[in-house]
Amino acid sequence: MKVNRRQFLKTAVGAAVAAGLPAFPLSYARSQVKQGVREFRFSASPARVNLGAGPDFIAWTYNGQVPGPEIRVREGEIIRVILKNFLPEGTTIHWHGVPVPNGMDGVPVVTQKAVMPGETFVYEFEAKPAGSYMYHSHVHYQLDQGLYGPLIIEPARPGGNYDREYTLLLEDWVMRDGGGVAETERRSAMGMGGGMGMMRGRGGGRGGLASGTGPLLEPVYDGYAVNGRVYPEITPLEVSKGDKVKMRLLNPSSATIYDLCLAGHTLTITHVDGRPIKPIQTDVLRIGMGERYDVEFLADNPGNWLLAAAEQGFGEGQLRIPVRYKGISKKEAEAPTFHRGLRFATYWDFQALNPSASSGSGSVDRVYTQTLSGGMNSPYWTINGYVYPDSERLVVRKGETIGISYGNQSMMSHPMHLHGHFFRVVNSSLPRERWIFKDTIIVDPMQRVDIEFLADNPGNWFHHCHNLYHMEAGMANVVTFGS
Ligand code: C2O
Ligand code: CU
Repeated sequence: MKVNRRQFLKTAVGAAVAAGLPAFPLSYARSQVKQGVREFRFSASPARVNLGAGPDFIAWTYNGQVPGPEIRVREGEIIRVILKNFLPEGTTIHWHGVPVPNGMDGVPVVTQKAVMPGETFVYEFEAKPAGSYMYHSHVHYQLDQGLYGPLIIEPARPGGNYDREYTLLLEDWVMRDGGGVAETERRSAMGMGGGMGMMRGRGGGRGGLASGTGPLLEPVYDGYAVNGRVYPEITPLEVSKGDKVKMRLLNPSSATIYDLCLAGHTLTITHVDGRPIKPIQTDVLRIGMGERYDVEFLADNPGNWLLAAAEQGFGEGQLRIPVRYKGISKKEAEAPTFHRGLRFATYWDFQALNPSASSGSGSVDRVYTQTLSGGMNSPYWTINGYVYPDSERLVVRKGETIGISYGNQSMMSHPMHLHGHFFRVVNSSLPRERWIFKDTIIVDPMQRVDIEFLADNPGNWFHHCHNLYHMEAGMANVVTFGS
């Protein structure tokens, strides 16, 4: 391993930092390390930000920056985050993908009361297993207003044979005050995209998802950023010929799936949702909301290249970041072309790196069928026809192996996410011990996908589509431990 790996971590997480707005004590933002406990202070507050181009606007932030500060710890350390709420409404933090104890999971109503303005809440949990994760607010549309950040758990014994490492958050933004929320309200007020019925009724819930006061239209994003910067106002990733480069790709976007390609290079996928797989090569990498991929590439083709997303008609092709070889002049970066014949590795091409010992008896104790539908002429998105919070509870018992069989009866893809557990992706062409572990899985239109998980983390666990606008429109339910 060469030396320059660390120094890049600093610059890779760019931040559009804020001036002004509600003053929180600056000392609040410092982080500390004491004996195996890594303590971070997060103040959630509105702040004026700029993505490098476009207007300044008010986002909701952790410590005044977007994305929020990187939490980077070693496996086995204790993460303690002291959250103070300077927002005008309640908030929480969810540690997406980390199987934390239920009370630390940060889902309003389901696992805790929202942390109200002026209040403080302490999250504390063990950092395990190693991998790439993220954190975000789990209240209303706060994720789309900017409340998210990277969470990296390094292995207890440093492994990884690479020279440089970057953490890249792929972000969809509406560059106006209030973010995606303001945009959905504007569109709704203008009667765009469906007219009546687009406002969801006010449910009885408080301080959480249940209150459902938002309109349901998805915003039209006008900024696709990496680590809070839009192209070309973004610092290129710098590499040297011969480097092995690791990228941790995290998708905290609220409603955008990206197909990524790095011009001039092949990507090798090493981890999905933080868990190691047998390295596999691909040209195009598809990453849904809530998913994380660790990929590597060998810098063997000097030039100035772009890592970019394919355009699907929503402007996401604007998401691009230059990868520039040292010593190459600053000529225009070359974009990838998304042509036929590119390799496009899918979930069913992946195999777990190590055969899983804990694969249980091989029998499934109960199976829940989950039919995903809605949209079109309905303001709701549903699972088995139900709208959260008036949805089913998936009852499980500790120690059981639970199957979930998804069927997507709608015309949109749904990245389904289960809290508190990793699940295995059923793959009939592989022996069970090679099935991969994930916590978020895209179910495509008209597709069926089966997963299994060992119910080993008691509590009430949220289970939902990670399209924020689908989740808020009802596509969610709760896995609950019974006896
Ligand atoms: Cu990334 Cu329920 O969340
Ligand atoms: Cu969805």
